[in-house]
Amino acid sequence: MSCLKDLGQNIVLCKKCDLGSMGTNPVLGEGPADSKIMIVGEAPGANEEKVGRPFVGRGGKLLRKTLEKFEIKNPYITNVVKHRPPENRKPKKEEIIACSDFLECEINAVKPHVILALGKTAAEYFGIKSRLSEVNGKIFEIKGIKVVACYHPAAVLRNTNLTDEFNQAIGQAKMAL
Ligand code: URA
Repeated sequence: MSCLKDLGQNIVLCKKCDLGSMGTNPVLGEGPADSKIMIVGEAPGANEEKVGRPFVGRGGKLLRKTLEKFEIKNPYITNVVKHRPPENRKPKKEEIIACSDFLECEINAVKPHVILALGKTAAEYFGIKSRLSEVNGKIFEIKGIKVVACYHPAAVLRNTNLTDEFNQAIGQAKMAL
């Protein structure tokens, strides 16, 4: 039986790292369990924690608008880490490791053809160590899945010069489907 069935409850109960132990609301992945594409971000921010859904803030709006532009329909959207790190700091290595069973469950259950890894934390999770300026839009084959490295939408909001490259990476993900 799919591990997705108990995933939500397991995440809610998880105390494997300090983030889980702080008692804040986790943000679960969402989307069809048979989606062809999985979008993986870093960790929820304040808006996501409030609403309990991934990518609902300004970066999320940019992401969702760009996915629509490329007619990428019904993606499964999730994050490397399911609880919001305080002050939106980057998740620590031990937090990423503590949360990795959940993302692995999602990947094994959804079996996406393509994963769009948004930002450095997600790219590094999949073993992509180079700078995003070098790998944005490149496709890596990881355990039989095409992983496309892509700038994080928050980085694009901070520096709109990255818009074309962001679009290019999402276009690559569409073509790889
Ligand atoms: N940034 C992320 O990486 N994930 C979210 O869900 C929201 C913002």
